Amino acid sequence: MDTFALAALLLFISGGVSAQVLLEPQNEMVLQTSDARFNCSTTRPSWTVMIWSLNGRLALTVVENVGVLNSSERFSAVDYSIAGEAKWEFVIRNVSRNDSGVVSCQIQDSVLVTAGLSVQENGSVEIVGSDRTVTEGDQVVFQCLAAGWFPTPQISWTMGGTSVDQQLFNTSSVEVDTLVNSNSTCRLTAVSNTSVTCLASIPALITPQRSSVFLIVEKVEKPASSDQTVLIAVLVPISAVVLLVLIIIAIVFCCKRRKRAKSNYQQEARAHTRSQLETVGDTHAGEGQGQDNLGYVTDPKANDTNSEVTDSGFCQNSHISTIQMPDVINGSQGVNDRYASYPLGDHGVRKHRHVTIV
Ligand SMILES: *[C@@H]1O[C@H](CO)[C@@H](O)[C@H](O)[C@H]1NC(C)=O
Ligand SMILES: *[C@@H]1O[C@H](CO)[C@@H](O)[C@H](O)[C@H]1NC(C)=O
Ligand SMILES: *[C@@H]1O[C@H](CO)[C@@H](O)[C@H](O)[C@H]1NC(C)=O
Repeated sequence: MDTFALAALLLFISGGVSAQVLLEPQNEMVLQTSDARFNCSTTRPSWTVMIWSLNGRLALTVVENVGVLNSSERFSAVDYSIAGEAKWEFVIRNVSRNDSGVVSCQIQDSVLVTAGLSVQENGSVEIVGSDRTVTEGDQVVFQCLAAGWFPTPQISWTMGGTSVDQQLFNTSSVEVDTLVNSNSTCRLTAVSNTSVTCLASIPALITPQRSSVFLIVEKVEKPASSDQTVLIAVLVPISAVVLLVLIIIAIVFCCKRRKRAKSNYQQEARAHTRSQLETVGDTHAGEGQGQDNLGYVTDPKANDTNSEVTDSGFCQNSHISTIQMPDVINGSQGVNDRYASYPLGDHGVRKHRHVTIV
């Protein structure tokens, strides 16, 4: 204790010159069992003695040109002095919670400068349960337990690396002895596969402690939405109409082809008939150049060779009605009559034609 007495003596016999003394950092926050460090510096040319205290108890004395007088396992000092500035770093090893408080540095003739020391404890953090498999759109509740902390840890959540809105989680804390346990509940909506992380932090921790689980989201087959229903309701009739038009075009096309085939047959038949009439010497032979009988209907049997005929009743009907037209207009006899009357020709002469089908 002689050194302390000496230091105190030196302090009190000093002159009345005050000096600027700086203590850094002003607030040191460290984890239990780690080291706490403070720098005390002055630009005063002659400072003689520097006394360090922890919570009012003398911890270390440094004498100018001599060095540390009473270092111990717990308290030590490192000289960082440079020309024009005296600077000593005070080190407290293996701090415990009850070291928390005030650290002070006093230089001879100067006011006492103080700084705060906060010794903190980091506990554990864990999301309750393992990975979760849910259905898309589900509300999922995660619970995170942080135990054995001091001071009360700050709990936050991230989902896929993005921080979760504070409104989506609740945290409550209870003190157990000198430590704090926190319980946080986070309510998330399942959107896609992601990782969910709970973080607990205290100032002395450089990076927060974390616990993660995976959220596996199973997609559901969505029923057709109202938009899709409307689309289907519009598309179905449109495609039906298009299909109908295509069918009609196909039918008309096939009928035209068949008509052409029939007229070829009719021409052949007429030519044959004409040559027969000429050889027989019919009274109408002179009218060999007469117009075609539009009322003429082909014997259905003539189509026997064509297997497609019965495929389309529509086709046959339209053919017959087209051919019958002139007869209906003239109010003439049945379709099967061998005489058909015609409207007056260009020269006002009504022509009659007598056809015999063989
Ligand atoms: C004290 O000062 C020295 C030299 O400037 C620096 O290296 C050290 O980190 C400081 N210590 C603290 C606790 O600020
Ligand atoms: C401070 O805590 C340590 C262990 O944590 C204990 O050994 C020591 O007696 C305590 N000191 C005071 C002053 O309470
Ligand atoms: C938070 O707690 C309040 C009150 O207990 C509750 O009404 C609310 O739903 C909770 N919020 C979440 C996200 O758990």
